[in-house]
Amino acid sequence: MSTATVTLDPAFTIAPVNRRTFGTFVEHMGRCVYTGIYEPGHATADEDGFRKDVLELTRELGVSVVRYPGGNFVSGYRWEDGVGPRAERPRRLDLAWHSVETNEFGLDEFIRWCAKAGVEPMMALNLGTRGVQEALDLLEYSNHPGGTTLSDLREQHGASPYGIRLWCLGNELDGPWQVGHKTPTEYGRLAAETARAMRMVDPDLQLVACGSSSSRMPLFGTWEREVLRETYDHVDHISCHAYYGNDDGDTASFLGSAVDMDHFIDSVVATADHVGAELKSGKRIGISFDEWNVWYGDRSRRTDGPADQWEVAPRRIEDEYDVTDAVVVGNLLISLLRHSDRVAVACLAQLANVIAPIRTEPGGPAWRQPTFHPFAITSRLASGQVLRLETDSPTVTTAKYGDIAAVDAVATYDEGRLAVFAVNRSTEGPIDLTVDISRTGATTIEEALVVHDEDRLATNTAGEPDRVTARPLDGVRLADGKLTITLPAISWTALSLSTQ
Ligand code: AHR
Repeated sequence: MSTATVTLDPAFTIAPVNRRTFGTFVEHMGRCVYTGIYEPGHATADEDGFRKDVLELTRELGVSVVRYPGGNFVSGYRWEDGVGPRAERPRRLDLAWHSVETNEFGLDEFIRWCAKAGVEPMMALNLGTRGVQEALDLLEYSNHPGGTTLSDLREQHGASPYGIRLWCLGNELDGPWQVGHKTPTEYGRLAAETARAMRMVDPDLQLVACGSSSSRMPLFGTWEREVLRETYDHVDHISCHAYYGNDDGDTASFLGSAVDMDHFIDSVVATADHVGAELKSGKRIGISFDEWNVWYGDRSRRTDGPADQWEVAPRRIEDEYDVTDAVVVGNLLISLLRHSDRVAVACLAQLANVIAPIRTEPGGPAWRQPTFHPFAITSRLASGQVLRLETDSPTVTTAKYGDIAAVDAVATYDEGRLAVFAVNRSTEGPIDLTVDISRTGATTIEEALVVHDEDRLATNTAGEPDRVTARPLDGVRLADGKLTITLPAISWTALSLSTQ
């Protein structure tokens, strides 16, 4: 059997675990909001119409922050449509997803939902069809304590200040599909002026400029450089978005997706630091990886459905995930944690139904997709400092990324508690992994969990919701400061140890 080793030392740290790494995303798209998190009349609905089964799963998922309300949706959205008495809210065309938006759920409901879910809101602004004034209005409505028309309006709607700290200055404005698509200079100027004005209201806001909508965009690199040249002094973070799929059946490359994510993050960090050097600035820009996931299907599915039909909350990209997808999602989280020195926020896109870890049926059950498990377990176990690991692994050959390490891992350490997360990306067979933990003093194995199945395409369904779950990993041995485990082919593993 192949073997791999990981050596770690609690003194060799990358950065503290950032709770905002465990964010997700709620967009007005398909059934993420309507019949996803919100469904008045559902058997589990609370007094606000929020599905309690989904709220419970959201808490179990360990979500820290939720980006809202889009996504492409936000670039044509009027936030005022979603506040105040429901009966007076307008119905609008949503051009991004070719649907009808009823505005039954809006900002006021979202903030109430966040409080119930125990998550921080991350608000995206419309910089597609709108600009500085509308951003200021939304900020005033949301955060100003009172005594102005907009803050008093919020009070009339029965709400105290929302205290929203994190703001996205638009969404994917480099994409020709975006309503209000812009050149880097057009967008950079608008983002800078919006940020400058918002800071006149509150200098401590945390602001995210849009990076490229993927590293495959023709302007990738140039877009980040030009946007940051305009915005560097006014923003805190630049966004990254990445979706990985296995549409071409190249499973080896798909399993190597985290290699691409590593490279993506490193490239954007290098570009941001280059602009910082040009500007002779000591400031460092963070990464807001505010959309990431596995997503099957090409982008044309964004506007599927006959062009003459405009429906309310139609089914859109309700991808059914399998074990292989769960391993990739777990590995992408390993990559994000490994970059905790620069990744300030990360949002798994999305939360419910739309390429989501949680699936629901209208009037029916809610269940966990296989991808739910690595996310929930990593969020629960990762704490303290992210450690810098030395990994020695056999390689696998991939068409897209060349030879890559079969075993990829990250570890966190928090006052005697050690967590190790590892994947075996080989399709060929198991790998024996030895983790040298002698310098941690850990002596007790608290948990050893694996996501794996003999059928790598196994999924969960409404009828069989727990076909794929995280199961105890057998055969874990700890002796002389060395932890030995066997990682099955195509698997994600989490270990938690303590000094007790
Ligand atoms: O998450 C789905 C969509 O993917 C978002 O609306 C958009 O920002 C991205 O292209």
